[in-house]
Amino acid sequence: MLNWKICELNTECSNTNKRAGGSQPGSDWRDDLARRVSAMTSLRRDEPLAGRTTMRVGGPAELLAEPASEADLAAILRFCAERGIPKFFLGRGSNLLVRDGGIRGVVVSLIHPEFARIVVEGARLRCGAGARLKNVAHEARRQNLTGLEFMEGIPGSVGGALRMNAGAMGSWTFDVVESIRVMSDEGVARDLTAAEVPVEYRSCPLLKAQIALSAVFIATGGERTGIDARMKSFSLKRWSSQPAAPSAGCVFKNPEAVPAGKLIDELGLKGACVGGARVSLEHGNFIVNEGNATARDVLELIELLRARVRAERGIELETEVEIVGE
Ligand code: EPU
Repeated sequence: MLNWKICELNTECSNTNKRAGGSQPGSDWRDDLARRVSAMTSLRRDEPLAGRTTMRVGGPAELLAEPASEADLAAILRFCAERGIPKFFLGRGSNLLVRDGGIRGVVVSLIHPEFARIVVEGARLRCGAGARLKNVAHEARRQNLTGLEFMEGIPGSVGGALRMNAGAMGSWTFDVVESIRVMSDEGVARDLTAAEVPVEYRSCPLLKAQIALSAVFIATGGERTGIDARMKSFSLKRWSSQPAAPSAGCVFKNPEAVPAGKLIDELGLKGACVGGARVSLEHGNFIVNEGNATARDVLELIELLRARVRAERGIELETEVEIVGE
């Protein structure tokens, strides 16, 4: 599946020139980009994204690129910079709400095996941005390394977890980062120590502009029984307090005063719905897709929750989930 360059051309030519990139009449910037990368890199036009997000809503990517090497990724980023084509970095889509009109420009996904490796070196795990956090946690467990158990239940990729400094069970991703490798818009890769990367609760501002390629996580030697016990208790806590239905994880950042889920619960808003989107009965900070939700339903429900919390408690809820597209 990965060693082909261009998917079926299912676009209507009359549409393409109005899109990103300002191509010449009769040409399509996506053809130009295809000439810049190797045949191993996958480029898919008008690729539906709903199935690539855990919320399962939203429109297509104008072009979905899955680079097969750092060189191809650099070529894509340089092309976007040259042509002024917008780009968006897609992880495992677990903290993402794509609007129904989809995403213009290039959506870059580091899902190719080249970017999903996990290499253990003593107590360090060198992990590609496309690796699943669950796999990182299990690899550490296999090596009797402790400290990464909290990643087990976070349904995202290393790249996404770095970008939003994802956390669970009292730990943040950057608690266990020794260094990261990033690439700039000019396609230049560099390594940074954790101390060189400012982070906040649920945010790593540097990675809004640059793409994370990999990270080195640092663990410590541990006992398998203790690791298993921690993983089990985290998993139990998660399954007993969070919904299994499709969602994008927590919708809002926790305000200082009170956790967002508790706030929404106290206001009796669990179960509130717009179309196919419903506030989870299990946890007030989750919106679940009941099967037929649109991004518009989810966004309307988010606004409804924010308005009620503002009116009744005077608190301004800030979304944690990343909202993108048109
Ligand atoms: N609570 C309620 N009602 C609810 C939900 C929660 O009263 O409907 C109460 C709980 O009983 C608890 C408090 O609110 O006393 C906090 O709830 P919880 O322990 O579930 O943690 P949280 O603050 O809601 C955070 C992260 C989660 C992470 C969990 C577990 C944020 C925004 N959320 O949730 O992360 O999984 O802790 O560690 O920081 C995510 O980032 O997408 C996410 C789900």
